[in-house]
Amino acid sequence: MFSTLKTHPADKILALIQLYKDDPRPTKIDLGVGVYKNAEGITPVMRAVKAAEKQLWEQETTKSYVALAGDPAFSDAMFDLVLGNAVARDQVAAAATPGGTGAVRQAFEMIRMANPEARIFVSNPTWPNHLSILKHLEMPVVEYRYFDSESRGVDFEGMLADLGQMKAGDVVLLHGCCHNPTGANLNLTQWQQVIDMLLKTGAMPMIDIAYQGFGDGLEEDAAATRLVASSVPECLIAASCSKNFGVYRERTGILMAVAQDKSLRGLTQGSLNYLNRQNFSFPPDHGARLVTMILNDADLRADWAAELEDVRLSMLGLRQQLADELQRLSGSDRFGFIAQHRGMFSRLGTTPEMVERLRAEHAIYMVGDSRLNIAGLNATTVPILAKAIIDTGI
Ligand code: LMR
Repeated sequence: MFSTLKTHPADKILALIQLYKDDPRPTKIDLGVGVYKNAEGITPVMRAVKAAEKQLWEQETTKSYVALAGDPAFSDAMFDLVLGNAVARDQVAAAATPGGTGAVRQAFEMIRMANPEARIFVSNPTWPNHLSILKHLEMPVVEYRYFDSESRGVDFEGMLADLGQMKAGDVVLLHGCCHNPTGANLNLTQWQQVIDMLLKTGAMPMIDIAYQGFGDGLEEDAAATRLVASSVPECLIAASCSKNFGVYRERTGILMAVAQDKSLRGLTQGSLNYLNRQNFSFPPDHGARLVTMILNDADLRADWAAELEDVRLSMLGLRQQLADELQRLSGSDRFGFIAQHRGMFSRLGTTPEMVERLRAEHAIYMVGDSRLNIAGLNATTVPILAKAIIDTGI
């Protein structure tokens, strides 16, 4: 039986982790997988998470099942965090999922159940796992232009022209903030134009928001998602807590289905529950419970928000330092985009050959499409990276 299995291409991001581990050079720098690291290269457990875990250990009396959609208190807390006052709570069905990836997977499956013909419009580029899951589910994919390789910003004209090809029954996958892998984002005026296009074509948006709090701030990063949710008849939102709560391995995420027509809520909630049951039954609880405790306790929440803000500002500082250093070394502004990008990543916009040379000659690891994890840098490694970029001729 097993001999009939096919081999699968390695995930480009995860393959880097092993390559990096195996590299004996002490000067190696890991700018690969999207995990936050502090200046010492450590991914800390956030203070509020530690405090909540202590409380939970003392208070938790059972590990029995919770519910197919997870604890409703988690859904309520995440609804507030992501959607604020944009829509009414009774317009939203929600289910906890194993991480943001679980939410993405469930969203695609829900779309396929509702309309097997649905085409999914994805940005070129997008997070590679979006494409991989869609391929696995054999769902039709259409790419829309997104990254302008000249300016390293968004090719908004191209994007809008391509989204003009959508029709009712199609879905467009949008990154709510901090676009992965490019770091290039739409402004709110552009988001409004995307919404106008959605209303014109009748296509439905699906928003993946995995980095809320890493861009311009917790509220600011949710603004586009809220604008979309309040403007269109229906949308799906896949949110991750991995990054902004630092609970990567706990697999904490949520899928929300928003409908203007409140009478659809029972149907969408039932579908979310059903999909959870088919795929993994009950979602993991530990991370979701910590997130709920933090969001519902004024002190824990304030401490969490303050630590997240420090993380965000440190990444912005690194962006600025790298852009300044590259300006100094190159004598030009052509790397200014690094300071403009937001979130964990920036796409340098260079070739896979150059990325490979950075690895071979300088022990600098980034994804082959030239995505670098800003949080993998610190004040000491920024000048090393900048010099390597210039020496390589990028
Ligand atoms: C990334 O893009 O590096 C992260 O989202 C981690 C992952 O699972 O790929």
